Amino acid sequence: MSATQQASHINYICMAAALGGLLFGFDTAVISGAENLLKIQFSLDATMEGWLVSSGLLGCIIGVFTTGIISDRIGRKKTILIAGIMFFLSGVGCAFAPSFTILIISRMLGGVGVGMASVVSPMYIAEFAPASKRGQMIAYYQLAITVGILLAYFSNAFVVAVSKDQISNGVLNWLFSEQSWRAMFLIMCAPSILFLAALFKLPESPRWLVSVNRNDEARNILNTIRTPDDAGKELNEIVNARNKNESSSLFPISKAIRIPLLIGIVLAVLQQFSGINAIIYYGPRIFETAGIPSSNALAFQVIIGAINLIFTMVAIKYADKYGRKSLLKYGLSGIILSLLLCGVLFYTNNTQGYLLLVLIMVYIACFAFSLGPVTWIIINEIFPTNIRVKAVSLCTLALWVAVWMVGQFFPWLLEKAGAAITFWAFAVFSIFNLVFSLTVVKETNGKTLEEMNEVFISPH
Ligand code: BGC
Repeated sequence: MSATQQASHINYICMAAALGGLLFGFDTAVISGAENLLKIQFSLDATMEGWLVSSGLLGCIIGVFTTGIISDRIGRKKTILIAGIMFFLSGVGCAFAPSFTILIISRMLGGVGVGMASVVSPMYIAEFAPASKRGQMIAYYQLAITVGILLAYFSNAFVVAVSKDQISNGVLNWLFSEQSWRAMFLIMCAPSILFLAALFKLPESPRWLVSVNRNDEARNILNTIRTPDDAGKELNEIVNARNKNESSSLFPISKAIRIPLLIGIVLAVLQQFSGINAIIYYGPRIFETAGIPSSNALAFQVIIGAINLIFTMVAIKYADKYGRKSLLKYGLSGIILSLLLCGVLFYTNNTQGYLLLVLIMVYIACFAFSLGPVTWIIINEIFPTNIRVKAVSLCTLALWVAVWMVGQFFPWLLEKAGAAITFWAFAVFSIFNLVFSLTVVKETNGKTLEEMNEVFISPH
């Protein structure tokens, strides 16, 4: 293979795996359009509504655990495939659910897929990408999340538009018009099929193959994505690293693991405590609180979604050039500033006008080029292969628990303490994150996965 062919092959591999993020984004955003319709259809009380939201998250947690257990046994590729199948089954199950219970079970299945993909997709990319492009390639995963969110908004809007008409075909009329929430979920099957089709052509991760002593297969795969010299060198490094770290247990936690684990878990939790999902999903409600009419909720969601997508490209371009820490430094500074100012606007009752909207856009842009992608990049590159999946699962689990906590406490905080305090609380967590990122997080830019041990054992 020529160098150009190899470059496009590796790009294909990483982009296909990144599609896990597309389903992640779609699955988490689709519910925002379906929720009200489901409330009416099943006459949901507050407890049942709580189930509707938390069933997906519970599924995510199950998915993360499952991946931690199975991915070292069956390999990365099969694990991603199972995640893709879960998404598909969830789409069909939700669309044709005969009862609320089946709907909840199907949502949970989708959650399992999201949870699995959130561990294995970026990790698979990290294990394939050349060290010099790893940041960029893991950021594809974040880009796919943002595309998924945007696609879900558009597809929900499309279904709402179609549902106003009477459709002559009985089944289609039931799906798209009478009970249009069904179509919102059914559409999720399309990206699932695309994902599954792209996955079949993917090779297994060479690092996993070496971990199960299939060195020859690993060599063959490396030869398709690296020059013969680089492939030989990388294989030796992987084999040496495996021989040094035979045990695949997280415990006892050695010094080389302790600091990466602390970094991974703290970054994961603080990414969520920056309030990103509260602002993305409750954005329209925040604008309503500010006196801006909610009739244009979709327009706001689309603007926020588009900015999220566009600024993720900045991370794709610069994560490997300027390093992870620089992006975190500038991004978090912008996040803190915009959150503090949003709080001031609410505190001083100055929320009419466009300044609030501009500040929220600045916040999203800063998140998109820093905290969003960089958190996923760092979590997936700092652990040695023998414990990577377990350690990444633990960090990702912390992230999902934090998603759940924000979902539970944000509406309560907004109601009890008001919007100003809520924004300031997110700002305080982001200040912690900035201090933590500047002092504890180590720069990992350009290092191979096998060199990470040295980064954390000899601090610089
Ligand atoms: C976060 C998600 C969030 C998304 C928004 C991701 O990095 O983990 O919780 O919804 O970014 O783009």
